[in-house]
Amino acid sequence: MFTVLEEYDFQKDTEALVIGIFHQNQPFKGLLEELNQAFDGHLMNLVKAGDIEVGEKKISIVHTLGKTGAKRLFFVGLGRQKELTEETLKEAFGVLFKKVKATQFKEVTVALHTFVTDSIEEAKVARLLGEAQPLSTYEFEHYKKRPNVPDKQLESIKLISKNQEIKKELHTGYTYGKATNSARTLVNLPSNMLTATHLAQYAVELARKYGFEYEILEKADMETLGMGALLAVNQGSVEPPKMIVLKYKGKEEWEDVIGLVGKGITFDTGGYSIKSKAGIVGMKTDMGGAAAVLGAMEVIGETKPKQNVVAVIPSTDNVISATAFKPDDVITAMNGKTIEVLNTDAEGRLALADGLTYAKYHGARYLIDVATLTGGVIVALGTETTGAMTNDQAFFQQLVQISKMTGEPVWQLPITERDRKRVQNSKVADLNNSPGREGHAIMAGTFLEAFVENTPWIHLDIAGTATSTTERALSPAGGTGVMVRTLSMLVNEFKPE
Ligand code: BES
Ligand code: ZN
Ligand code: ZN
Repeated sequence: MFTVLEEYDFQKDTEALVIGIFHQNQPFKGLLEELNQAFDGHLMNLVKAGDIEVGEKKISIVHTLGKTGAKRLFFVGLGRQKELTEETLKEAFGVLFKKVKATQFKEVTVALHTFVTDSIEEAKVARLLGEAQPLSTYEFEHYKKRPNVPDKQLESIKLISKNQEIKKELHTGYTYGKATNSARTLVNLPSNMLTATHLAQYAVELARKYGFEYEILEKADMETLGMGALLAVNQGSVEPPKMIVLKYKGKEEWEDVIGLVGKGITFDTGGYSIKSKAGIVGMKTDMGGAAAVLGAMEVIGETKPKQNVVAVIPSTDNVISATAFKPDDVITAMNGKTIEVLNTDAEGRLALADGLTYAKYHGARYLIDVATLTGGVIVALGTETTGAMTNDQAFFQQLVQISKMTGEPVWQLPITERDRKRVQNSKVADLNNSPGREGHAIMAGTFLEAFVENTPWIHLDIAGTATSTTERALSPAGGTGVMVRTLSMLVNEFKPE
């Protein structure tokens, strides 16, 4: 996809030459000045007249009418130099690549240095561009009838730069973007096409591609290991449950292992505590946590950090039948704790309870769970910010710093002693899975804490952020692939305490 051109002259053929343009970067210098001269000063006139827009994320196209080898100039407006953030620059590249996709060009050339600012160096520009291209042009392979016209795709992006090191940055950005797209596709697949069995097959393919060790537990294995919480959720289903485990060894010794645990509910009807007609639609996305973990494992497979990781995905659907689990049932989780089921729709925390225990069993010394866990987190934080809970502030701060770089905001919710009492208020069992609607995002996280015990742990509730109803600069509506980049970058940068 990417080639670096050390030299560039205007006579070189290209469909489009892409140039970043800031507010008030006149008089033109360098490439812009040369181009301006080739057009007898008219480029500057176009900027003055507002035909070339310099505002953030504005794209202006100028046809060169044969005056240069480039057939067109694509100007990417960047606003004021001092105000440009990495996130806005990434979005500007997103808008650009959407435009390029609409034109169906096979190749474009980018003057990379025209995007550099005092705070964003060339290598960073390359990384953002590499990430924005796959993110912004992602499309879910839909099932609609297609017109019989071949689709032309962008095959080559040439970058003008003297710095050969940007190749690595481009590739890293691209890897993060591509893996996010893989997670989006998993989220977008309907539950008749993505069962727990399919999810396990996908994970095994990933493991084979990157040489991860893997283990897929079947129902009988779960019975032997006493995974009563995951089994209860699966009880009403004809689809077999799977406990998916992938191991990435980045060090000689199996130490400092980070456990990534993703909720893999392929469809959530709510069970006997059934969801409403409106609330049930979209519940194919209830495996967004699993998708984030698998996306992160794809980045980890590509970037090969010096860090051990075990990924654990408890997977099943949550459906109703004569055999389904019921409110009032008392079940026993793998760690021996008993749970009174007050609400079969609070199934994610049950599946994760056994997932967290199993990650510890596989040596996890740090735990991060990711789950579309509660409607409550959407009420609390909306759809832009992921809700987080933790028992270890230093560990959590590492994730917060990373999330600022990836542009995936997280916000911490508290756990108090009284919250702990509420999840332990069952008269018949150690825990109850639904202590009422007040602060129920917090209740869910507090329930999970009981399975983590003293292991440093972060809980990420992505119910609001795993999907989007609107198109954005870097994604269409549907699965967002949220947390793929944050989890994988955290693994890459992690410092054991
Ligand atoms: N999968 C849902 C949470 C969810 C809601 C995800 C909306 C995405 C969008 C979860 O299993 C659930 O049903 N949670 C209940 C918990 C309640 C019964 C305590 C909820 O949030 O209402
Ligand atoms: Zn539910
Ligand atoms: Zn659910």
